[in-house]
Amino acid sequence: MSFKIKDIEIQKNVILAPMAGITSFSYRKFMRKFCPDCLVYSEMISDCGLIYGNKETDRLLYTDNNESPYAIQIFGGSKETIIKGIKILEEKQINYDFLDLNLACPVNKVIKGYAGSYWLQDLDKLYEMVKEVVKVSSKPVTCKVRLGFNEININEICKTLENAGVSFIAIHARTRKELYSGIPHYDALKDIHKIINIPFGISGNIFKVEDALKAKEITKADAILVARGAIGNPKLLLNIEKALNNEEYDETINFNEQKDYLLEFSNLLINEKGERQAISILKGLAPKFFTNLPFSKEIRISLSQEMNSKEDLLNILNKYSK
Ligand SMILES: Cc1cc2nc3c(=O)[nH]c(=O)nc-3n(C[C@H](O)[C@H](O)[C@H](O)COP(=O)(O)O)c2cc1C
Repeated sequence: MSFKIKDIEIQKNVILAPMAGITSFSYRKFMRKFCPDCLVYSEMISDCGLIYGNKETDRLLYTDNNESPYAIQIFGGSKETIIKGIKILEEKQINYDFLDLNLACPVNKVIKGYAGSYWLQDLDKLYEMVKEVVKVSSKPVTCKVRLGFNEININEICKTLENAGVSFIAIHARTRKELYSGIPHYDALKDIHKIINIPFGISGNIFKVEDALKAKEITKADAILVARGAIGNPKLLLNIEKALNNEEYDETINFNEQKDYLLEFSNLLINEKGERQAISILKGLAPKFFTNLPFSKEIRISLSQEMNSKEDLLNILNKYSK
């Protein structure tokens, strides 16, 4: 069932979650084939990177301008720099549908800059910042949050964001303290629909269709965000969308299909980033395409340790065939 973020109809209830270092243009393009019309997010973009014209920030913003629905996620540690960053972003010729604020990142480097989930500690300050962002942004503003910083106070966080004018909230069902491990607390989200009148999405440990269905049943969320579960398993988005529509789905993973997927993604990434940077990223991601498959151990070791070029990638994939 579709849902609306402000005036924009979102056709699918599955979302590709933002992941720094992963959700590049190539990854989004590759994944969109498995879930056309799904909302996708950029990697997180630094407000100061925008302000200082950082080259890497520009590279992270690369798009073919045909992505929709598409949210650009920005992070920053002060109202003033975030607003400045948004103004610079808006001067660029980039098509996007939503301006997303990262209020979820737990890593120390980001917290030290008062950014990411740091904002969840002071809801008055958060309200002031978000209200201003909503005023300045020409696009509807969405937010990605956690359940709280140390303790769970997601009801107050959501109410604050809705009052500030936000149009959609994606909630990672863990606190900042919990980082990325442990069982997500979906129970804490079972009353969110009664607290706010804007749509919300949920995130955390969605590795199989069953995980998505369970989380959806508990929270009645409008959308499910898929993050780590889709790395190397792109069909997960398609399968979740089918399951949510009571259609048949097939979670089996096929060796030759996975090889084709990896090649397709690798070619996109090499085109975007150049061979050297792409191979360095692929060393981390490529092995995940071969989890629980024949030759899993051997091929994963080869991809992470012996691959230094596109030629190596092709040779490794040719060596292992089924
Ligand atoms: C490598 C990595 C990078 C991430 N980067 C971001 C990010 O830039 N912005 C954000 O809002 N969340 C980020 N996340 C959080 C994910 O969007 C997601 O909420 C989280 O991984 C929980 O979902 P999962 O348990 O299904 O992976 C990142 C997660 C991972 C694993």
